[in-house]
Amino acid sequence: MYTAQMRELIKKVEKTRPERLGVDFPRMTPEEREAVLSEYHPDYSDKGFRNIKVGVNKEAKLPKELADLIEAKSRLEKEKIDLNQIDYDVDVLIIGGGGSGAAAALEAKNNGAEVLIATKLRFGDANTMMAEGGIQAADKEDDSPARHYIDVIGGGHYGNKPELVHALVNDAPGIIHWLESLGVMFDKTEDGTMVTTHGGGTSRKRMHAAADYSGAEIMRTLRDEVHNKGVEVTEFSPAVELLLDSDGKAAGAVLYNLETEEYCVVRAKTVILATGGAGRLHYQGFPTSNHHGATADGLVMGYRAGAELIFADTIQYHPTGVAFPLQIFGALVTEKVRSLGATPINIDGEQFVFPLETRDVEAAAIIRECYGRHKGIKTSTGSLGVWLDTPLIELIHGKGTIEKRLPAMYRQYKRFGIDMGTEPILVYPTLHYQNGGLLINEHGQTKVENLYVVGEAAGGIHGRNRLMGNSLLDILVFGRRAGIHASQKTKDITVKELSLEHVDFYHKSLSENAVQTDRVSPMLLPHYTHGREA
Ligand code: FUM
Repeated sequence: MYTAQMRELIKKVEKTRPERLGVDFPRMTPEEREAVLSEYHPDYSDKGFRNIKVGVNKEAKLPKELADLIEAKSRLEKEKIDLNQIDYDVDVLIIGGGGSGAAAALEAKNNGAEVLIATKLRFGDANTMMAEGGIQAADKEDDSPARHYIDVIGGGHYGNKPELVHALVNDAPGIIHWLESLGVMFDKTEDGTMVTTHGGGTSRKRMHAAADYSGAEIMRTLRDEVHNKGVEVTEFSPAVELLLDSDGKAAGAVLYNLETEEYCVVRAKTVILATGGAGRLHYQGFPTSNHHGATADGLVMGYRAGAELIFADTIQYHPTGVAFPLQIFGALVTEKVRSLGATPINIDGEQFVFPLETRDVEAAAIIRECYGRHKGIKTSTGSLGVWLDTPLIELIHGKGTIEKRLPAMYRQYKRFGIDMGTEPILVYPTLHYQNGGLLINEHGQTKVENLYVVGEAAGGIHGRNRLMGNSLLDILVFGRRAGIHASQKTKDITVKELSLEHVDFYHKSLSENAVQTDRVSPMLLPHYTHGREA
């Protein structure tokens, strides 16, 4: 419920609304984009980063919170682990129970492999489940994978690995078919045509959605399919370290059962890391739209085993996180709200940015409005935000559109006495995604033999900035590709003696490089109590 003071401010938004309706706000020039990014995007602020002292990417710039975890010691208690005592012996071990892990598992199982999914929380408790806006695929007549390719590369500031983008955009239409065949119910018009919308930085409407709970719909379907196919899943069992064999090839992992507090040894011919992102590290103090499990575990374990990081210094702050009410602070307000016509508005009722600039530019423009131009709105809890003029959606598309196209968001605000159909909402950027991760090739392979990475933990696909809807897409494209490749490869693999020597080597390298730390990693779960840092 808005305070009386906030209601007074809303009158300024209402006053300018008729003159803004139907008028396109100009897009920024490349120079204007560069200027707002360099001055206001958190990635460009040196204070959030430092260079790491160890490992494959020694001297690389990383967010400080991630650097601290990368330079931490292993949390393994080696005296409690007997590598000759194998608890699971499988062909393909998949670490992580979100969309990419599920997709990899389905393909590996289809190929006849013995598969184990090990998840930190419950299977499906992951960022995939929380994805709202949709999944991109160029499958309409006015579109093509080539156009999709150009958008992805432009959005990524031309840093993307071309072969990964090629795989992403060309597999995309097939992914939509695959999902439909499994039972995903996308939004369609009465004649059965897919409803598609724009996202920031897209030249065509190619976002396919299931209302504003696209990820939940996809995860529900994948999870059912994994269970139907009889894939073994062990829950509440995060991996705490990868295992290599005596040839230095990936060969399994040590899991830690959160309920029994026991370790468990998994031997596997190939390993697929699908552990997700890092939002719960709260880089630079930002709130996050991420799931509680997003603590960069895969980056830490993969890096210790010798996999290379790419673009780990580029973080995505979603332009529109909830700024008010406090109970849902930082939660995602899907880009679809802007793609349906809502526009960012400052305290004086003025629009200050085209609503669908790429995410990095849009977020930087909102930060500038609040802290550079001092035209943000102070909420009753003291934080700053800008209005997102959601009633415009109803004026453009007709009454009831919000409840129909954004039902989850509509209800979320209604619970707090805010009606998005008649009142604007307050938003501010929220930590949403890591654009980079562990470098992969088009099969999801890393440079560590038999180690694959998929989903948000993988890097190179999106360059320095991902476009909306390409994450739900990439988890499935590369999840499936890795599942196929990793399972085929198992036919030629004999695992040698299991080893944790790389962990000893890493510890040695920490002391040789004068890193002094009591911290242990992976973090596994975020902690919000002061003085209890890992
Ligand atoms: O805005 C959103 O719905 C987020 C989508 C995405 O990150 O791809």
